[in-house]
Amino acid sequence: MCSWLLALVTLAAHDPSAERGYQLLVSQAYAPGQFPRTVIDNAWKRWGLSERPPDYWGAFRSRYGLPESPFPNNGLPMGLRSSPMPIGGAGACLDCLTCHGGSLMGRPIIGLGNTSLDLQAIFEELSGRFVDKVKPPYTMCNTRGTNEAGATSVFLAGFRDKDLNVAIAWRNLGLDDSMCEDVPAWWLLKRKRWMYATGEADSRSVRSIMQFMMHPLNGPGRFEKEESHFADIREFILSIKPPVFPGKIDPTKAEAGKLLFDANCLRCHGGPGAESPYPGKIIDLGTIGTDRTRHAGISGEFGEFYNSSWFSREIPLGTNQQLKARKTAGYQAPPLDGIWATAPYLHNGSVPTIWHLMRSKERPKRFTRSFSTDSDAYDWGKLGWKTREVEASATRDAPPIERRKVYDTSLKGRGNGGHEFGDHLSDSEVSQLIEYLKTF
Ligand code: HEC
Ligand code: HEC
Repeated sequence: MCSWLLALVTLAAHDPSAERGYQLLVSQAYAPGQFPRTVIDNAWKRWGLSERPPDYWGAFRSRYGLPESPFPNNGLPMGLRSSPMPIGGAGACLDCLTCHGGSLMGRPIIGLGNTSLDLQAIFEELSGRFVDKVKPPYTMCNTRGTNEAGATSVFLAGFRDKDLNVAIAWRNLGLDDSMCEDVPAWWLLKRKRWMYATGEADSRSVRSIMQFMMHPLNGPGRFEKEESHFADIREFILSIKPPVFPGKIDPTKAEAGKLLFDANCLRCHGGPGAESPYPGKIIDLGTIGTDRTRHAGISGEFGEFYNSSWFSREIPLGTNQQLKARKTAGYQAPPLDGIWATAPYLHNGSVPTIWHLMRSKERPKRFTRSFSTDSDAYDWGKLGWKTREVEASATRDAPPIERRKVYDTSLKGRGNGGHEFGDHLSDSEVSQLIEYLKTF
């Protein structure tokens, strides 16, 4: 029997556990150290300061956009995980929570996308001396709060053959590092039959969410070994519930909003909660009209690699079908559970509030925000983050870390057009709809 069939048999015998998945998620490192601990502990030296700031870790967290860790994490913020450096010495690597651990009202939330993160600054400032000399092969973050997760998969897959052996030469499987991806909330996965912005991967797939393990030092054996752990992690993801809106809700207004939602939105998005069917519709690019870069950005070449590789050789219990990725015609209308908590909106995070999503003509074109997630950074009326418009000239000569704080919708991957389904509603109707969405 070939080895992957054997692996299927082992996995079938594994009964995934959410509790185990949580423990693994908050304790295991799935990559060797990427950032030496000495560099992490002394990063202030790279910030142009003459002495260590009194609240060093507070300053560290706000510079990189990492929340305080809600679990014991060896003194590190959530999103960095202790892991020895390959050449020896203490270090840390990224983990799932770098992108999937956000914060709200200043409190860390596992499973909320991190929309304050500046992954580029983390790589540039924490990698240490060796990497200082080498230009990163691709951009990790073009604009703060978004990241190039898709490019990371395509880049790392370029070093692998279909059995995940590490190849010597890198192949370009159509790398595009300008997709500016907004991280979806994990509590939505349980409602989806297909996942990712385009609905291209089967949501039952355990292997698909192991793509981040493709660090060149992780050989094929490591993937086999960790698969049951990732089945546990997936089970934990399925157990996460959306946070409940912490403000006041006017029940009469919300009731009026429900009628509007049912008439205008329900057919694509479905309603909140497990009791309400989720249609999982893919809306073609012409109809949705949102930025096309993400849709084009995961290439056919990468799809072919994926569908011929270990990642797609997974057969869920009770079926005889491999979990192949598919090409879709557009973007999936996501479920809206906990939608008030997941600003900014659209797959590229180009729209700061739900109000702006409903008012396509009034969306800001070039804007910044504090990247704090405290209550006073939240726009309680429009549901989302408070923003400030900025002139192009204001940041032209600013250092890259400041420029990444500006979301410029004229740049590639960052278009904020499309989704005009709220434009015909009156101001009071939009406000009723928003009241209803607070209950999701
Ligand atoms: C560099 C940031 C980053 C890291 C690290 C990361 N993810 Fe993600 N993840 C994303 C982004 C961005 C998406 C959305 C991709 C898309 O739709 O194109 C995503 C999508 C997902 C989804 C699908 C959600 C949905 O509803 O469609 C799952 C599940 C997931 N990630 C799990 C994981 C796990 C498990 C890990 C750790 C092994 C991980 N991710 C690490 C950025 C990241
Ligand atoms: C024709 C189908 C369709 C209709 C009708 C529709 N939407 Fe959407 N909606 C989508 C799609 C597709 C997306 C994802 C687009 C993207 O990210 O590029 C989306 C995205 C969203 C998002 C952002 C989700 C996120 O996590 O970023 C919200 C909020 C939303 N819609 C609310 C509404 C509301 C409220 C209505 C009714 C006024 C509505 N939609 C009507 C298809 C639709």
